[in-house]
Amino acid sequence: MSSTSDTEAKVRIIDTGVPPERFARGWHCLGLVRDFNDGQPHQVQAFGTDLVVFAGEDGKVNILNGYCPHMGGNLAHGSVKGNSIACPFHDWRWRGDGKCSGIPYARRVPPLARTRAWPSMEVSGQLFVWNDPEGGKPLEELTIPEIPIYGDAGWTDWVWNYVDVEGSHCREIVDNVVDMAHFFYVHYGMPTYFVNIFEGHTATQMMRSRPRADAAGVSQSTNYSSENQSHATYFGPSYMIDKLWSAGRTGEGEPNIYLINCHYPVTPTSFRLQYGVMVEKPAGMDDAAAEQIAQAVAKGISIGFEQDVAIWKNKSRIDNPLLSEEDGPVYQLRRWYEQFYVDVDDIEPEMVNRFEFEIDTERALKNWQAEVDENLAAGRTAFAPNLTHAQDAVSAG
Ligand code: FES
Ligand SMILES: [Fe+2]
Repeated sequence: MSSTSDTEAKVRIIDTGVPPERFARGWHCLGLVRDFNDGQPHQVQAFGTDLVVFAGEDGKVNILNGYCPHMGGNLAHGSVKGNSIACPFHDWRWRGDGKCSGIPYARRVPPLARTRAWPSMEVSGQLFVWNDPEGGKPLEELTIPEIPIYGDAGWTDWVWNYVDVEGSHCREIVDNVVDMAHFFYVHYGMPTYFVNIFEGHTATQMMRSRPRADAAGVSQSTNYSSENQSHATYFGPSYMIDKLWSAGRTGEGEPNIYLINCHYPVTPTSFRLQYGVMVEKPAGMDDAAAEQIAQAVAKGISIGFEQDVAIWKNKSRIDNPLLSEEDGPVYQLRRWYEQFYVDVDDIEPEMVNRFEFEIDTERALKNWQAEVDENLAAGRTAFAPNLTHAQDAVSAG
């Protein structure tokens, strides 16, 4: 005879944990430089606070605490004067390094008049801000790498988008790095090869996949036998460069699409997810047509992220996921991710040591193909009724 308590003892209970109050150490991309260097101040909510982003006459983009240390005026409502931001309340001027550069009505500037300047960096047309709860300087080894072909005449510029995600910690998106199976169910792709490598501050996902034939109209590609390839690497806690080879281009050679998948935290339970796409211009194609391709790829990617967001919005936070062998190294990934949430002195070797894992996709593919075939035979489509657009199953998100 079994009692209720016997049964309960065998049930896995979700440990939701608590999202950390602290924000990750590292470089966070705020968006494209061109959206910030227009001579206007911009307010950015990030890391549980408000920042003001502005470019002075010298063209350098600066990031300061959003509120004026004089009487708390909102600097994003002020104006750029010379290389300083002028507060709308009493016109105190603040330089990019945080020093007060002048108070027009006062005899002298208090010698200690300084606000917090956040280190910034521009890479591949994008603006980055450095966050460090310990107040440390940017670490050399965490520098974001340049994208070698950025600015090349053979490539489009960035097509850039964002979505604000409320009610989730940004760990949810990082978890996707190891999540092979969700590509079938959420993104309508069939991963045939799936490898993760974590090392130091990088976490990589290498994947080949083909679109689901029962998701016609969702996938932009109708070549269901041909594989896309994706090499996606997080550099630090929040910035992923994803190199994509569209169908028929797998194997050797350079990618023909770059996707940036990045985010910054707004509060412990909300973040802004951003993604940018740049495509190689096909030979003989004019710029406008190439731009349209980039727009179409970005549209597909954005649908992919919408599918993720729909899951995150409605799921529970879970600190103790119950995994099968084909689920990939969720716990190892989370240990890697932990390095950005502890003091530098507390980084453990297991957070940064090289770790490599390949998921065996054989069983999954066999069963998935059968499901796809069954759907096709029955004239059913795979996609969820709330989705109406096309999606190329190449997203690494
Ligand atoms: S509050 Fe900014 S100048 Fe007074
Ligand atoms: Fe995803």
